[in-house]
Parts: sequence; C-alpha cells; structure tokens
Amino acid sequence: MALDRNSVPNDLSAFWMPFTANRQFKKAPRMFVSADRMHYKTADGREVLDGTAGLWCCNAGHNRPRIVEAIRQQAGELDYAPAFQMGHPKAFELASALRDMAPDGMDHVFFTNSGSESVETALKIALAYHRARGDGARTRLIGRERGYHGVNFGGISVGGIVNNRKMFGTLLTGVDHLPHTHLPENAWSRGQPAHGAHLADELERIVALHGAETIAAVIVEPMAGSTGVLLPPKGYLERLREICTRHGILLIFDEVITGFGRLGSSFAAEHFDVQPDLITTAKGLTNGVIPMGAVLATPQIHDAFMQGPEHVIELFHGYTYSGNPVAAAAGLATLETYREDGLFERAAELAPYWEEALHSLRGTRHVIDIRNMGLIGAVELEPIAGEPTRRAFQAFLDCYEKGVLIRTTGDIIAMSPPLIIEKAQIDQLIGTLKEVLDKLD
Ligand SMILES: Cc1ncc(COP(=O)(O)O)c(C=O)c1O
Repeated sequence: MALDRNSVPNDLSAFWMPFTANRQFKKAPRMFVSADRMHYKTADGREVLDGTAGLWCCNAGHNRPRIVEAIRQQAGELDYAPAFQMGHPKAFELASALRDMAPDGMDHVFFTNSGSESVETALKIALAYHRARGDGARTRLIGRERGYHGVNFGGISVGGIVNNRKMFGTLLTGVDHLPHTHLPENAWSRGQPAHGAHLADELERIVALHGAETIAAVIVEPMAGSTGVLLPPKGYLERLREICTRHGILLIFDEVITGFGRLGSSFAAEHFDVQPDLITTAKGLTNGVIPMGAVLATPQIHDAFMQGPEHVIELFHGYTYSGNPVAAAAGLATLETYREDGLFERAAELAPYWEEALHSLRGTRHVIDIRNMGLIGAVELEPIAGEPTRRAFQAFLDCYEKGVLIRTTGDIIAMSPPLIIEKAQIDQLIGTLKEVLDKLD
C-alpha cells in the first residue's frame, strides 16, 4: 500500500516526546507534515503561520532552496568524514565564514551538534583554559537564575530553571548563580529596560565570598529567551564584562537564540557592543535544518592550548559529528542565505513595527506585561490561581487551531518569527493572539 505522506501514524506510543505533555499530545496530536517559508502545513491540510521560527531556529524561514540543495549535493558527495585527526573542506570553510560574521576577535570555532553541547563545550574550554595557563584553581562556574543553557549536566547546573534541575540529583558542585534581571519596575519595556544594571554587582559579592582566583567563568544569555524573554537592563552586560575582566574571569555569552540576526545584528555581542571571551551558538547556524552548534573563542583562549609537542592532542574534547559534512554544507548555505537576503538588516528594520504590534496588546484580557527586542516578543499572562501554565497553554492550543504557532513557557507567550516575516503576517499573528486572549477564561 502506498504511504500517505500526510497521514498520522496509528501508534504514537513509542516516541517519548521531549519537553512535551505526552499524554495530552497523544490524545489530540498536532502534526506538521511540510513547511514552506513562513508556514507549516498540518496533517489535516491546514496552513499554520510560524510565529516561533520552529524553536527559535529557522531564521530564514522554511524550505529554503539553497539550503535544501546544499544538503542534497553534500550527502551525495561526501556523506561523512571522521571528525578526529581528519578533515574535510566544508568544515574549515564554515569556520572561516562564521569567524567573518562574528564580532571581531572571535577567531576560532569548535563545532558541536546542539546548543546544549555548545554550552558543555564552552564550560569545559573555560576550565581547561585556566588549567593550561597554570591557573587550575579556577574551577568555579557562575550562571544566573532563570538562565537556560540546555539540558546536559553542565548546562542545568549553571542554568536557573527549577523544573529543569530539581529531578536530576546534585548536579555540578562549585556553581553559583547571579540573580535574574527581571524586575517588576521594568514592566512594559520596549527594548532594554532602564532598571537593574546594579544586579551585575552581585558578581562582586560572589567574588568576595569565594575569591576571584577560584572562579573560571560566568555564563549568561545576553537576552534570556527560553525562560520567557528577560531583557538585559541598560548597562548590565557592560558592567558584567568590566567585573569579569577586572578579576580574570571568562565571560561566556550563550547566543544559541540571540545569534544569527534575532536582535537585528549577527550576534547579541555586536548588538550590545560587549565582547565576551566565548560565544555558544546552534539553532540558526543551519537554519534548524540539520543539528549543528559551535563555540567561538578568542585567540587568547585558543592559543593557550596550542603548546607542547605538536603531535599531541591539545583539547581532549569533541563529538563524532563535530563539523559533519552535511551539517557544514547546510551551515554555509544558511549563512549565504542570511547575507544574500540581508536578513539581519531586515530584522532590524522590522523591529519597530513588531514592537508596535506587540504592545498594541496592552489592555487585552489577562495580559500583565509585554516586552520585546529585535524580532522577539513576550506577552505575559496572569496565571489562573492554583493552576500555573494552564492559561498560556490553552492560548497556544487555541492559536494553533486558528492557524498560528506561538510558544509558551510558564504563563509567558514567547514569539520569535522567521526574519522573513511580512508586516501583514505580523498583524495576523498578533491579531489572532488578541482574538484568542479575548475569549480565554
Ligand atoms: C540559550 C540557550 N542555550 C542552550 C540551548 C539548548 O540548545 P539545544 O536544544 O539545541 O540543545 C537553548 C535552547 O533553546 C538556548 O536557548
């Protein structure tokens, strides 16, 4: 019998879905079967406007011919090459292209397969860097409350989302957390909020407690996405940079979401003009099409490893799929698409329209805060008493039924459309959300 591409399988029991309410989903599955540019198509033939760029990753929209073709060609030419002690041209080309797109001074690229792996890699590089310089007492890692750095053990240890941590044992020891930057006085912020730069000074408190000579690195998202779009207050990142520099602590920007045009610049480091020592990326690197991530490092960090006999491996770390040829081809085609279509500039140009549209929801039922930056927006809802997350989840389901994909985290609705979105589609996204919220209990 011919396979019906659009049919839903009868048996959904085997696939244990990630970060999903499995039982709810399997009772009423939401299946996408194809996608093109701004739209998904569902198994029942409906078009759904992508208000989230997949999971913050399809920045160029879906099914872009250059990327599809690059993958097809590469798979037929060189499907795989060993990642250790062997190379292939496209991984080197992509590393150079990434360096050229990144803020000045981020000259070296270590490939991974996901944001979580980029985080683990960056934390390990930070620890090993200090050790390589003979400063091996620097083992302490500093994250931030409400930070999201993926789901592996290092990432959840420095991360600050309780549900991602509490079930999983003792995690890494020697980790402290800065306070998050989400202050009530900053409600309804358009772009960077005014209050909260002083929260960076908490790093001084941690330094005073443990001694700077024990601290390896601070990791933060320049703009915290997954926890519900928490914006960096004006002056905060600059102050964090200054304190890190003063104490010889590395600053890691986790740019898994903010990389590749989301804020209207290549990276948030460029957008805020604050230079980190390491940048983690993934998602938009390949437009979400093939899993791939990368860590960008300064020459100072990279060169600290390039010592000793030349036949000896300098960093005992890497993945079977680091720089995988098909992923590298997808990455190259993605960066070309961003450049050729001027998508980062487009995001910057659209941002004011996006901001206005988003803030037009002020006064809508249940809405207690709205915040935005670049092509990211969050609409925070008053939770139902005793039933946190239920209201936003219902909004997500209703929007899906009305042909719009949004994303929720807690009672916060987060939106991050592909950078190719048109103004009329912004109106549709926000208009549908308003309609849904107006009717919601
Ligand atoms: C800032 C940040 N770091 C890390 C990750 C983890 O990425 P992945 O899901 O590719 O492992 C994410 C995912 O959303 C993220 O937003």
